[in-house]
Amino acid sequence: MKKIILSGIQPSGALTIGNYVGAVRNWAKLQTDETYCFYCVADMHAITVRQDPNELRKRSFETAALLLAAGIDPDKSTLFIQSQVPQHAQLSWVLCCNSYMGELSRMTQFKDKSATKNEENINAGLFTYPVLMAADILLYNADYVPVGVDQKQHLELCRDIAIRFNNAYGEVFKVPEPMIARVGAKIMSLQSPDKKMSKSDPNPNGFVAIMDEPDVIMKKFKRAVTDSESVIEYREDKLGVSNLLTIYATITGKSIEESVAEFQGMGYGQLKIKVAEAVIEELTPIQTAFKQYLANPDYISEVLEKGRKQASEAAQKILDKVFEKIGF
Ligand code: TRP
Repeated sequence: MKKIILSGIQPSGALTIGNYVGAVRNWAKLQTDETYCFYCVADMHAITVRQDPNELRKRSFETAALLLAAGIDPDKSTLFIQSQVPQHAQLSWVLCCNSYMGELSRMTQFKDKSATKNEENINAGLFTYPVLMAADILLYNADYVPVGVDQKQHLELCRDIAIRFNNAYGEVFKVPEPMIARVGAKIMSLQSPDKKMSKSDPNPNGFVAIMDEPDVIMKKFKRAVTDSESVIEYREDKLGVSNLLTIYATITGKSIEESVAEFQGMGYGQLKIKVAEAVIEELTPIQTAFKQYLANPDYISEVLEKGRKQASEAAQKILDKVFEKIGF
């Protein structure tokens, strides 16, 4: 029996190298003879923030192309767009009725995202977001869910909901295990290295997008914030330099110690160039493949149509069981 892996990625905005090393790169590697993977473009999660409709549709498509470029093989895995599989919304409602306001209020992502707004402006989708995510996972009997550290709490909630439902109605759901990317799960902003690198950073110099051109990548790294010492060490009080070392180590697969040793005697200028070069080297083949896929939109549509069919067939089996248990 193959282990089932499921993950999702939002199509909201330019993906960064943080998303790449924390998620997308691992997703391709998780396709083995012992696993079967479902990967979904989570456009339903994206509308918890108001989106331009044409932009959203375009980005969902491009995100699928990017996943293909990063090595997701549609003959081995199911790649699909969440909103095209209505079972996600259907199960989500049932799970909402088995989730509590209290536990949803405790989600740090919700607290962070709603902190700056008054209650009238917080949409209910932002609140029930983790329940939809639980539906994504439970619909496919996932054994493992690869996510970044920031999603770990949502995964724990998913487990709680699954266990609660099983206790109330009998065994329906498999209780999934999180799979948290180790190193590089957290890449910080190049401009404010005390904050996570984010695609929604208003300062584009803070993040490196997977699709940034090589000269743009070089420029962003050259502008990266460091400190007034000139020693290359991995230390808590040297956030900028440590972040550059983290990026280098994750991209190259080297350890932090090896990386620090490699840069001994160099200045920050050289360090920045070397890190930028490593990033460019890693991203170039993906960028090339991405452009090739985008030049062939019919192929992407075909992949997504196949994914939609496979996903909804798998999801319907679980949904039938759920409906039967709850009396629908
Ligand atoms: N919420 C996740 C994020 O923003 C994306 C996501 C949606 C997801 N559905 C999922 C991740 C299911 C794992 C499993 O990163």
